[in-house]
Amino acid sequence: MMAYTGTHRIVSRFLISSYTTRRSYTTENKAGVVVGVYNNNGEDVLTEAATSINTHSSGNLTRLMQYGGPLKAGKSRVLYGVSEVFPIVALVGLGKQENKSNPLEERDEAKEAIRTAIAAGCHSLGETNISKILVDSCGDGEAAAEGAHLAVFKYQDLKSKKKPIPTVQCFTEDNERWTRGATLAEGQNIARRLMETPANILTPTNFAQEAVNCLEGLGVEVLTRSYDWAKQRNMNAFLSVTRGSAEPPVFLELSYRGNDLSDEKPLAIVGKGVTFDTGGISLKPPANMDKMRADMGGAACTVGSIFIAAALKLPINIKGFIPLCENMPGSRATKPGDVVVASNGKSIQIDNTDAEGRLILADALHYASQHKPRAMINMATLTGAMAVALGSGAVGVFSNSSALWEVMHKAGTISGDRVWRMPLWKHYSSQVTDSWLADVNNQAKHKPAGGSCTAAGFLKEFVTCDHWMHMDIAGVMENKDEVPYLGKGMSGRPTRTVAHFAELIASGKSEL
Ligand code: BES
Ligand code: ZN
Ligand code: ZN
Repeated sequence: MMAYTGTHRIVSRFLISSYTTRRSYTTENKAGVVVGVYNNNGEDVLTEAATSINTHSSGNLTRLMQYGGPLKAGKSRVLYGVSEVFPIVALVGLGKQENKSNPLEERDEAKEAIRTAIAAGCHSLGETNISKILVDSCGDGEAAAEGAHLAVFKYQDLKSKKKPIPTVQCFTEDNERWTRGATLAEGQNIARRLMETPANILTPTNFAQEAVNCLEGLGVEVLTRSYDWAKQRNMNAFLSVTRGSAEPPVFLELSYRGNDLSDEKPLAIVGKGVTFDTGGISLKPPANMDKMRADMGGAACTVGSIFIAAALKLPINIKGFIPLCENMPGSRATKPGDVVVASNGKSIQIDNTDAEGRLILADALHYASQHKPRAMINMATLTGAMAVALGSGAVGVFSNSSALWEVMHKAGTISGDRVWRMPLWKHYSSQVTDSWLADVNNQAKHKPAGGSCTAAGFLKEFVTCDHWMHMDIAGVMENKDEVPYLGKGMSGRPTRTVAHFAELIASGKSEL
């Protein structure tokens, strides 16, 4: 049974009038609508937008939906012939209206329900050859826009026959929040596209060009540093990784100045940019090696999150540092047992050339530390062990600052990506500082046990910043079906989380 209350009958808030003027439905203006329905202990309750369509169609919506029984949370049901103005309506299940908070889940469940439901509606309408989708804000235009824009994303740049992607628009009057959500999703979609792009196309040089294309229009400065620049700065750990490749390395330095106080210290974001990881001489096994085209996921999420910060004009200064290279087993490649001296003067014994992420980050983190940032975070698809530990449920994070952890934890609850704190103890770093030939070893003494923690312990040796966080994003690199609003493919996680993190810091409420 439908429950009708006075508030549900308010139709004037919605943009129905602009659609009712249309006389007939043609293929040129093929639009579908996605509207929500709650299920409060078995009782269906329409959102305001759904109620307005129901009223407009003289109760047709509720009549038609009853044939299918109760609508489960996150599911979509397409109704045809609701009215002349709204012939195709996807009704989507939002679950229970109240009591969405569950402290154990550590995320905003109401937002998550909206993203999931709206995405389900967009997916099902996408299958009906529709060109435009009007979306119900369901009371949170930001979450609805995220669900819609993340759902319609498709990587098909390299297909000769591209499927048309429907445009998504806000159906209800929540435009400001809708635009924000669309921007957050766009940043994540940028990261998804970069991660999905094959490595023969997205070389370090082409990644740099993509960063310019995405960011310069928003006033973000993109400096492309060469091999010689890195050599001058003794970035020998970074350069040891690129030795076996014919592609030149690039070091990107991004600057977004959103705060008028030019002397305000920046937030530093460092991203691992290995455009392909074969493992080098410590060659990886062939199964699923193609996925290593996304080993620049940290770099991609850095570009995506700075895109969001700039597009939302966040009042904060941000610097991005992205070492880009390939890890290949060429004849000049680094060999197990080789020793290099990093830019901070520490010597590194490279016992495993497949542990290359920590090598390029060592120099990038040291360089970023020298800019005296107020806080520094890095994102890296660093260890397979991270996927073993947490799967894709959360990003594993390691931090020397509880204040920073608190802010990132909050950001993860808003975005739904979630972060989980992992240990950054001497117990782990001592396993890499015990090296036969050098100051540190890039492979831990008791490998493979605690592989993510020892990798983090290695990075710590190159950081001189009191508020630093390493985010190991290997486990969330790809989405199969775990996050329903993302669909299958490279995930672009945790781009939106880092954008929220920057916004929380910009708000000045934290001590960072
Ligand atoms: N890029 C990989 C980690 C990775 C694996 C990311 C799977 C995403 C999915 C990284 O460079 C790597 O190979 N790490 C090694 C470290 C080891 C040799 C100490 C690993 O995880 O096995
Ligand atoms: Zn590797
Ligand atoms: Zn790697």
